[in-house]
Amino acid sequence: MLELIPLTDGIGTEVRGIDVTGDISDADFDRIYRAWIDTTVLLFRDQDMTPAQHIAFTKRFGEIYTYTRSQFNHDEHPEILILSNLTRDGKPIGSAYSGRVWHSDGHYLTEPPVGSMLYAREVPPVGGDTWFANMVAAYDALPERTKERIDGLKVIISRVQSRPYNYPDRPAPTPEERAEWVDVAQPLVRVHEESGRKAIYAGGNVPWRIEGMPEEESAPLITFLQEFSVRPRFTYRHQWRPGDIVLWDNRSAMHRATYYDHVAHRRLMHRTTLAGRPSAGTGTAP
Ligand code: OGA
Ligand code: MN
Repeated sequence: MLELIPLTDGIGTEVRGIDVTGDISDADFDRIYRAWIDTTVLLFRDQDMTPAQHIAFTKRFGEIYTYTRSQFNHDEHPEILILSNLTRDGKPIGSAYSGRVWHSDGHYLTEPPVGSMLYAREVPPVGGDTWFANMVAAYDALPERTKERIDGLKVIISRVQSRPYNYPDRPAPTPEERAEWVDVAQPLVRVHEESGRKAIYAGGNVPWRIEGMPEEESAPLITFLQEFSVRPRFTYRHQWRPGDIVLWDNRSAMHRATYYDHVAHRRLMHRTTLAGRPSAGTGTAP
C-alpha cells in the first residue's frame, strides 16, 4: 500500500509501498505527483529498474530532455546521463565532479529543466551524499520587507561565470562556447507554474548581478538570499544506498553533490531529466 512519509519537516517525501516498474494506478500516481510538487523532493528506496524502466517511470512525470551534446549519455539509452568516476578503456563513462556547489540545474538556460530523477546503482561506503534545499520554504520564511524588496527583480545568470564553480575539472569555456552561452535574465522570485508558490531563485555560488542595481547593492543581497535558502531547516542530506531513486523539482529545490574518494571507491548514478518550460517570474515588467 502506498505510504508518503516526510523526509524532514522542511523538505521531501519518502514514497513507500511502490514498485516503480510495476503498475501504479492513476490515483496513487496523483498522490505521488502532488507530494513531489508540494515537498520538492521524492525518495523511493530499494528499486530495481533497467534503463528502459527508468525512462518509462520518468515519462509519467513529464517529457524527457535528452542532452544531445553530452559525451556521457548511456550507450543504448541517450535519455540517460551517467554520473560516475568509473572508466572504460581508460575513458571516463560519466561526469565525475559535477554539482559540488549549491545549484539548480540549467539556471543559465531560458527554459531550465523541470526536474531530474537520479538512480543510484553503485555508491561509495562513505561520502558522495547529495544535499537538497527547499527554496519555496525558504521564500516563505523571508522577512516581509525582503519579499517586497525582491519581488519582480531579475538576476543576470552567466554560464561562463559559473563554469569553474560547477565543473572544476573541465577546461575553461572555448571561444565558441563563450559566444553561444549568452547571459540569461531569470526572475529572482520564481513562481511555480503548477503550485503557484514562490521560490527564491538566486542560485548558490556566484554573487550574480541584479538587473538595474549597482553591484555593491546586489552582491550582498544575492549572497544573503543564497545563504538563507540553504539554512539547515530547509535542507535534507541524502545518504545513498544502491536502488535509491531521488526525483527533485528543479523549480523549487537546489541541490549539491559532496566529495567522495574517487580513487578508492566507485559511484555510478543514472539520471533522467524532465524538459523545461520558461520560468515564470513575478511583477509585470517585461
Ligand atoms: C545532478 C547533480 C548530484 C550528485 O545530477 O544534477 O547535481 O550528488 N547530482 O550526483
Ligand atoms: Mn545538478
